[in-house]
Amino acid sequence: MGKPIFVKISPNLDIEKSILAMKKGGASGIVAINTKGPEEILFDDYPVLSNKKGGVSGITILETGIKCVNRIRKITNLPIIACGGISMAGDVRRYKKAGANFWGIGSALSGMSTDEIKIYFSMLEEDLNKGSNNAERLLKADLNMDYEKYRVNENIKLKNDLFILELNKNIKIEPGQFIFAWLPQKGEKPFSVFDDKPTKLLIQKRGCFTEKLSKIKKGDTLYLRGPYGKSPNVNGKILLVGGGTGIAALYLFAKKNKDSIALLGGKDKNCLAGIKKFNDLCKYVFVATENGEIGEKGIVTDLLRKVIKKTKPEYCINCGPGQMIEAVVKEEKKYIAEEKIYSSQDTLTKCGIGLCGSCATSKGLRSCVDGTFFNKDQI
Ligand SMILES: Cc1cc2nc3c(=O)[nH]c(=O)nc-3n(C[C@H](O)[C@H](O)[C@H](O)COP(=O)(O)OP(=O)(O)OC[C@H]3O[C@@H](n4cnc5c(N)ncnc54)[C@H](O)[C@@H]3O)c2cc1C
Ligand code: FES
Repeated sequence: MGKPIFVKISPNLDIEKSILAMKKGGASGIVAINTKGPEEILFDDYPVLSNKKGGVSGITILETGIKCVNRIRKITNLPIIACGGISMAGDVRRYKKAGANFWGIGSALSGMSTDEIKIYFSMLEEDLNKGSNNAERLLKADLNMDYEKYRVNENIKLKNDLFILELNKNIKIEPGQFIFAWLPQKGEKPFSVFDDKPTKLLIQKRGCFTEKLSKIKKGDTLYLRGPYGKSPNVNGKILLVGGGTGIAALYLFAKKNKDSIALLGGKDKNCLAGIKKFNDLCKYVFVATENGEIGEKGIVTDLLRKVIKKTKPEYCINCGPGQMIEAVVKEEKKYIAEEKIYSSQDTLTKCGIGLCGSCATSKGLRSCVDGTFFNKDQI
């Protein structure tokens, strides 16, 4: 009782009938419009969505949205929240003229970090007050949503559940960013890029998708989209701390910062098959294995206590399982200012462009656009 109910109107249905039905049901207002379609989007003749078809949103439905709001306003005086393709002040003005009272913006925010969204909205407000159209400039022109086709050069098995996919081309990516790997009609999942020249992914078999990836062979096709995420701004002596496949996210940092110190942990020597690459680049590499096959026997946290005192890094970059991150940060912050400690943990990552919200952290940041590496002010 007492809560207003707004009904979202589909442009696919009969608008007049929808409005009559919602008025009869006692709705307080209308949201117009819902997505159009569903439609099938193909890439290389394969449907991009696992479901094959999906609702269309964004700028392509702007005109339909405005027409619908126009028609709705002729039928009812109930308040209308307009949404569908709004990306700038001019669009808001057009919806207003059509009869809308409030405005919702969604797809236009694709790819924007939380700070960028704040700036976008304050600029939009200014545009609406002054009659200008400046917020448009803040829209992301390139969302990296197109897939790039790669061939597998080699699928290198490190152990039963761990493998490296070496692909046939380089990738342009900054340390700390990630990509989505797509197998048409089988799905797509996020991964760090272990190396960029040529592209290499270090993958652990966990479920259906990684099981399928583990079976792809030399010459097979793999599609990647991205890169996504922000590269943390680190400039100085970096301590790279990685456990398990978290190591995959660290090598590009080592490549860019030749003074890095790497501290890598895994269950056994096969988990650390990539360490030679770190040896070639880093100033020091320290290794721990749970069974003691190589390096110190134990976990990275044990090793960290000894290393951090001696090496005195300026920044820490951590990537690995949650428990590991918690333990290493506890130790690191005894020696290094917390804002210089960046950590990345896997969050459920689906769109990669900040729209679905599935990767939200406890502070409401979206890992795919604000991270995935966060310092203490952000986690
Ligand atoms: C930014 C980022 C970088 C990553 N880098 C690597 C890497 O370099 N190597 C590697 O082996 N793995 C990496 N992962 C984890 C990888 O995405 C999951 O292992 C993979 O999605 C599992 O899919 P699946 O179908 O095999 O397993 P599922 O059976 O679907 O899931 C098994 C587990 O994998 C995780 N997972 C599943 N779906 C997702 C998702 N959409 N986003 C995040 N986690 C998921 C969950 O913990 C889940 O419990 C990364 C994840 C993120 C978010
Ligand atoms: S908001 Fe969709 S994965 Fe981050």
